[in-house]
Amino acid sequence: VIAQVQRHDGDSTRTAVDFGAGKSPIPIGLQTLGFATTVVDPDSEPMLGRRAGNEWDFIDYGGWGIATIKAGMEERLFEPASVGLAVSVSVIEHMPAEIRRAAIAEVARVVAPGGLVIFTLDVLPGGSRQLWNRIVHEIEPFSVHGTADDVIEECAANGLELVFSERCPINESETSVVGLVLRRTAT
Ligand SMILES: C[S@@+](CC[C@H](N)C(=O)[O-])C[C@H]1O[C@@H](n2cnc3c(N)ncnc32)[C@H](O)[C@@H]1O
Repeated sequence: VIAQVQRHDGDSTRTAVDFGAGKSPIPIGLQTLGFATTVVDPDSEPMLGRRAGNEWDFIDYGGWGIATIKAGMEERLFEPASVGLAVSVSVIEHMPAEIRRAAIAEVARVVAPGGLVIFTLDVLPGGSRQLWNRIVHEIEPFSVHGTADDVIEECAANGLELVFSERCPINESETSVVGLVLRRTAT
């Protein structure tokens, strides 16, 4: 993610939001790169019924000078076109498709024209494009939940144009990841 930011970012606002950061070094990395960074995460504990003890844990990044908002990314939290860089790593595939579409529309609303959006999506193993469809239980029928290509189309419909995509085979026998780098178009 950080390498893609360095490769594609031309943002002059130097403002970044990590949506669904959980427990991650990425917000700290963005802040270190000079972005005034905000984290948005609702805290997964009520959703999971327990503290996960892993990357799903809610962290307040205030100690690193990073504003931390406990909320869902589908909520209206920022002014239109006020964010230069939006990052969301392994988050939107863990939502029902209807909420995912609201989240994508909200990211598109707040990112300024020319701004960069990086989404990563966990997909089923074995070269599939099918989105991971489980938190504690299966979220919804697979036909409703959709694919990485559905997400790319939903992004395009909201003015987020795909500029780069990469598959990241962390472990082919478990989960694979599709990385998307998108640019907010001018209109
Ligand atoms: C698989 S973890 C990923 C955490 C981190 N981004 C990483 O890559 O390690 C999913 C994260 O999404 C967050 N999340 C769940 N629903 C969300 C929502 N509606 N808006 C923003 N974040 C959400 C969870 O709280 C959790 O921190």
